[in-house]
Amino acid sequence: MAEIINDFEKARDILQSDVLAIPTDTVYGLAANAFDSNLVAKIFEVKQRPSFDPLIVHTSSKYRIKDFTEKIPSVLDELVDKFWPGPLTIILPKKNLIPDIVTSGLKYVAIRIPNHPLTLKLLDQLDFPLAAPSANPFGYISPTSAMHVQRMLGHKISYILDGGDCSVGVESTIVGLENNSLIVYRHGGVSIEEIEEVVGKKNVLISRDSNTVAPGMLSSHYAPGIKLIIGNPKELIYDFSKNKPFLINFKSLIPDYPSELQVCLSKNGNLKEAALSLFSALHVADQSGAGMIIAELVPDEGLGKAINDRLARASFQKH
Ligand code: TXA
Ligand code: MG
Repeated sequence: MAEIINDFEKARDILQSDVLAIPTDTVYGLAANAFDSNLVAKIFEVKQRPSFDPLIVHTSSKYRIKDFTEKIPSVLDELVDKFWPGPLTIILPKKNLIPDIVTSGLKYVAIRIPNHPLTLKLLDQLDFPLAAPSANPFGYISPTSAMHVQRMLGHKISYILDGGDCSVGVESTIVGLENNSLIVYRHGGVSIEEIEEVVGKKNVLISRDSNTVAPGMLSSHYAPGIKLIIGNPKELIYDFSKNKPFLINFKSLIPDYPSELQVCLSKNGNLKEAALSLFSALHVADQSGAGMIIAELVPDEGLGKAINDRLARASFQKH
């Protein structure tokens, strides 16, 4: 098992020569020196991540970004001024200092300043940025606590830096520019509505074919170990009663159904709270002894878009 540490200095030392699971505002990441190809290779190996799926580079200030990309274009600059540090990743042309392994050979690099005090302090004191994908085996549920990382990767890594539960709970929103238009490649912790408030409604395009541009956005992703189907739990529990389903409800529990076999994401129907609960709910479901999961979609607005995207990908699996 990995050693779970709280000690900031120890974390800084480990990162000189090894990978380290780190907390962020969105999900836990598996981090390594982004300038060191060998350490980055270890991330791919630990996660069993295909080499064609590029990593996000995390840093602590806009000033440092000059080392790994050209000037940030104004529309992206407005967004980062509003949302950094926070759950937004931007994609820009990369400079040579970022090794090809980080970007899977693409000429573009994904960059983010995460909003987590411990990790920001770490990034500030290191003289290199951190490449970090989510700290889960490839294609599996993302971790929102140190214990989630321990359960999924504890046998493969030496250390996890514990920074408490994540405050956002879904991954960052990924944006970039194509022909001067702003494209959203992945729904995440910053909603489309929030982005539109900054850049104007007609200036935002949503990428439908994210698989080619962001190769990691595969249809099947974020998947638990048991089958997940999307639908109305109330209606489906009878059809699937033989499978002992675990229910992920949006606002309310199903009366008379065992409480250990269901959760509700937000009693008040708050999508922020639901996003925060989503991956935990999937981890609990996976550990519950249930034979399958029935999950209800949430309203397709605000953070609901990120939640529904993750549920759709979790349901699309080849078990
Ligand atoms: O919130 C997050 O973004 C978390 C935390 C740890 O920062 N990280 C995360 O990383 O979700 P990961 O590797 O699980 O997902 C990153 C996504 C992948 O789907 C990848 O394909 C895409 O970002 N990506 C990375 N670099 C890219 C690039 N240069 N061009 C297009 N897509 C890129
Ligand atoms: Mg991931």
